[in-house]
Amino acid sequence: MTDDFDGELKRAADALRAASRVCVLTGAGVSAESGVPTFRASDGLWEGHRIEDVASPMGFERDPRLVWNFYNARRANVRTVRPNPGHHALVRLEDRYGTRFTLVTQNVDGLHRVAGTKSLLEIHGSLYRTRCTYCGEVLDRGLDALPAIPHCHCGAMLRPDIVWFNENLPPDVWDAAQIAASECDVMLVVGTSAVVHPAASLIPIAKRTNDATVVEVNMTRTEASHYADVGLYGPAGEVLPKLVAELERTA
Ligand code: APR
Repeated sequence: MTDDFDGELKRAADALRAASRVCVLTGAGVSAESGVPTFRASDGLWEGHRIEDVASPMGFERDPRLVWNFYNARRANVRTVRPNPGHHALVRLEDRYGTRFTLVTQNVDGLHRVAGTKSLLEIHGSLYRTRCTYCGEVLDRGLDALPAIPHCHCGAMLRPDIVWFNENLPPDVWDAAQIAASECDVMLVVGTSAVVHPAASLIPIAKRTNDATVVEVNMTRTEASHYADVGLYGPAGEVLPKLVAELERTA
């Protein structure tokens, strides 16, 4: 954590205290301390797998077994993990703002939901759900083990209900995320490299539409840093509880 971490922490808490609406954007980094791999780290998911093979409609058409191996392995990993203090701190933050709080996550691990976040927008889908490639039925399967290539009761193949590259985000969820970003006074940007769009565009939307104060929480500077008014650099599982404690300390 930087020398002036305490000063930055106070500035972030001051901005939150003055805020009427808060929007949080999270990425894989918020789940890293729970044991869920991120995507672009040296040991990240994209190191061992080609995106076009395991996270694109073409890859699924070409080799659904390879794709399901990848997602069944991710489901198995998430079965073994729990939310960390970072997830829990965001639940405490929501308790403070109630319906004036929205958490937009790029994560498909469901850990925000397990932690108890209520106003949650999963813009990239969820590992918990499958979608039928023919009848379109979307079902929550929990994290129970699935067959190598699961099929729908209509007979067609199922796919993970996850947004792949070159696919559109679910319009209703994306619209709600843009509204939350455009109306917030403070946007917390937590554990994302902010290189994937359109998710990353929520940050300039918050800045330009409502001149929101952008607070970045990450291990390092990212593509979001030039929009950030405050930078809190360190593990989210340590920084977020400190931020909420600072906010509550001088409520
Ligand atoms: N605390 C805070 N930040 C962390 C931590 C931690 N403990 N560990 C890692 N980070 C940061 C990294 O520095 C990096 O900036 O989290 C970020 C993770 O970045 P990515 O791996 O690129 O993940 P993300 O930004 O969520 O990816 C966006 O890309 O692959 C697609 O659909 C996938 O939703 C994903 C999207």
